[in-house]
Amino acid sequence: MTEELFVKKCKDFLDNLQTGNLQHVQLNYIRTLVLQQKPKTILETGVNDLLSSFWDPYQTSLGATSTRAFLVMRYLLSLEGVEGELYSIDIRRGKGMEKIEQSEFGKYWRPFFGKSSLEVDWTGKPPIDFFFVDGAHTFEGVYGDLTHFKPYFSDKIIIILHDYSNREDGHRVKAGALEFIYKNPEFTVEQIPLKNEYGLFYLGEIRRKA
Ligand SMILES: C[S@@+](CC[C@H](N)C(=O)[O-])C[C@H]1O[C@@H](n2cnc3c(N)ncnc32)[C@H](O)[C@@H]1O
Repeated sequence: MTEELFVKKCKDFLDNLQTGNLQHVQLNYIRTLVLQQKPKTILETGVNDLLSSFWDPYQTSLGATSTRAFLVMRYLLSLEGVEGELYSIDIRRGKGMEKIEQSEFGKYWRPFFGKSSLEVDWTGKPPIDFFFVDGAHTFEGVYGDLTHFKPYFSDKIIIILHDYSNREDGHRVKAGALEFIYKNPEFTVEQIPLKNEYGLFYLGEIRRKA
């Protein structure tokens, strides 16, 4: 396949990717941010083990949506000369992860499985430019993720919180984020409403105050 065709395949993949977990409107919002901000280091907490046809031609499963999307974005950024990695943390290693590792995108991927995000030591790793929080959807989980990785946020950090405010666990996500903002007033949080035919979805977005 020519590079041109592969790039088109990647863009089509991002254009069409939607799962119950990550709605297309949310993904589009994240994609626009990532392609503008051009992060070198992306961190995500929360991977899940169900794969779609892009990685699994027999479509035995669906999932790992954010992981696959960020890896494709990483590839698109590399074409602009922005090299970097996606670090993904999950307490468990789901089935099908080797398909991602063995794909052409595997070289950008630094997965940590079998540990809570709060147990991952970031010392010596690069500053985090973009952080997608989608692990434990509890007050402690979200506040913990933000606090644990805060010393390693780069100056241009953008944090996106999934499931912000619109479901029962969303209230816990929001509460964890607001506690972080209360303790760290140099940051601000915004609730991003995104609507599609399935309803209204929210992301939380944290940035450093200008
Ligand atoms: C909603 S899923 C993530 C979905 C994924 N971002 C996607 O787009 O497909 C949440 C994941 O967080 C993981 N998780 C829960 N608590 C965690 C923790 N303390 N540290 C890391 N991962 C955790 C779960 O195992 C689960 O796979």
